[in-house]
Amino acid sequence: MTGSDFVVVANRLPVDLETLPDGSTRWKRSPGGLVTALEPILRGTQGAWVGWPGVPDVEPEPLIEDGVELHSVPLSAQEVSDYYEGFSNATLWPLYHDVIVKPEYDRKWWSAYVEVNRRFAEATAKVAADRATVWIQDYQLQLVPKMLRMLRPDLTIGFFLHIPFPPVELFMQLPWRTEIVEGLLGADLIGFHLPGGAQNFLYLARRLAGQSTSRGSIGVRSKLGVVQVGFRTVRVGAFPISIDSGQLDEASKSKSIRDRAKQIRKDLGSPKHIMLGVDRLDYTKGIDVRLNALRELLDEKRVDPEETALVQLATPSRERVDSYVKMRGDIEQQVGRINGEYARVGHPVVHYLHRPVPRDELIAFFVAADVMLVTPLRDGMNLVAKEYVACHSDLDGALVLSEFTGAAAELRQAYLCNPHDLDSVKDAMMSAIDQDRETRRRLMRALRRQVLTHDVDRWAKSFLSALGNGEVGGSALMSE
Ligand code: ADP
Ligand code: G6P
Repeated sequence: MTGSDFVVVANRLPVDLETLPDGSTRWKRSPGGLVTALEPILRGTQGAWVGWPGVPDVEPEPLIEDGVELHSVPLSAQEVSDYYEGFSNATLWPLYHDVIVKPEYDRKWWSAYVEVNRRFAEATAKVAADRATVWIQDYQLQLVPKMLRMLRPDLTIGFFLHIPFPPVELFMQLPWRTEIVEGLLGADLIGFHLPGGAQNFLYLARRLAGQSTSRGSIGVRSKLGVVQVGFRTVRVGAFPISIDSGQLDEASKSKSIRDRAKQIRKDLGSPKHIMLGVDRLDYTKGIDVRLNALRELLDEKRVDPEETALVQLATPSRERVDSYVKMRGDIEQQVGRINGEYARVGHPVVHYLHRPVPRDELIAFFVAADVMLVTPLRDGMNLVAKEYVACHSDLDGALVLSEFTGAAAELRQAYLCNPHDLDSVKDAMMSAIDQDRETRRRLMRALRRQVLTHDVDRWAKSFLSALGNGEVGGSALMSE
């Protein structure tokens, strides 16, 4: 049997098919942190990636990009609506993010989720070589580990959850909670960002699936938990994800990007303080929180509109899901209100761009920004925080970071804040703006040490070596 020795399975391919106004198509980079993290890991491995091409009712032929075989799993328009927008993003996403909006439980969506997970499992079974390593990603595909194991018991199967795993009390709301836990238990290794999520899962494996589990505490990249599923041993661990820090560090030092950063500063009217937000337009990201904090700081005259600019780059996301439609309206109203009150002609306070920005341009924004605002109400990791740090070899920058992100567990020298407490956010912003130069440099140096030594390569290697230490198979990537 031929096929790939190393297969990544994710809802999205790393590239999205885009239809242009003249009806022709082209591939563009997919949005989100999952692709940011995995794309450099796979590049040049000769592995395969199984995923949806991002638009309904198309099934492009397999293509090879950067040495990686991309295999499309087609979704009908109805499945996009029920499996992707419905169960994945109006049930699981809000449930796993502390029910910031109310999750909807719909039996039809669940049936579509089961059906599409089965299609992913079948597609993967066809692509994987004998005894291959398969790495399944994220909340959209939690049933695939068990389905794939039934089809292909020879495979070594890993699963990684890119979003938070919720507290037990919230997870218990889900009508299909047992099926999800059993689906995940089809893997040999289940990875979470933080030990807390892994521990919640172990408890549920006992309570819902009736399996015996280890009881000791789980460490970061160490001390894995164990679930005994019949004769199989499933391991459970914490593997905080990261970025290609070395590549960003390099790119941010290049002359062209530094020149562009200077130009951005000029274009903004050379303000004393440039603050930056970079997010998918998602209600978990707390974009409203930072806008409220800025408005109050302006009202209280703690921030001078003549000296300050906030740039908010927001990638459109999940635009047909109701809660996203509403949130976009609310945020655009807040931006309008701040500018209505504090802008001059040709000199807005908030610069809001609702579009993805090319990678080099984004790096130039990171370099230009004095203060980075990362204020999610809940985030599994948040790669943007790490990207900002990687771009500041000049040590001249400050990171305001919500305690409710996975990144806060590692980036302790950030200006940490509680996004539910507006005063805490305002104080963190003011400290970041006012901090003396020496302290700012010291904090940034410590942040950079963490981000540069814990890059995405280390994340992948620690997960895959834990996976490869099981009895079956090995990892194609580890032998690179
Ligand atoms: P999430 O995965 O929830 O979107 P992360 O912060 O982990 O959040 O990852 C987001 C990724 O998307 C980062 O690599 C970030 O640089 C990128 N990104 C976010 N907003 C934009 C934007 N407006 N333009 C380009 N890239 C963006
Ligand atoms: C987060 C999720 C990913 C998802 C990405 C973009 O990073 O963890 O699984 O791909 O957001 O969201 P989208 O719905 O556009 O794929």
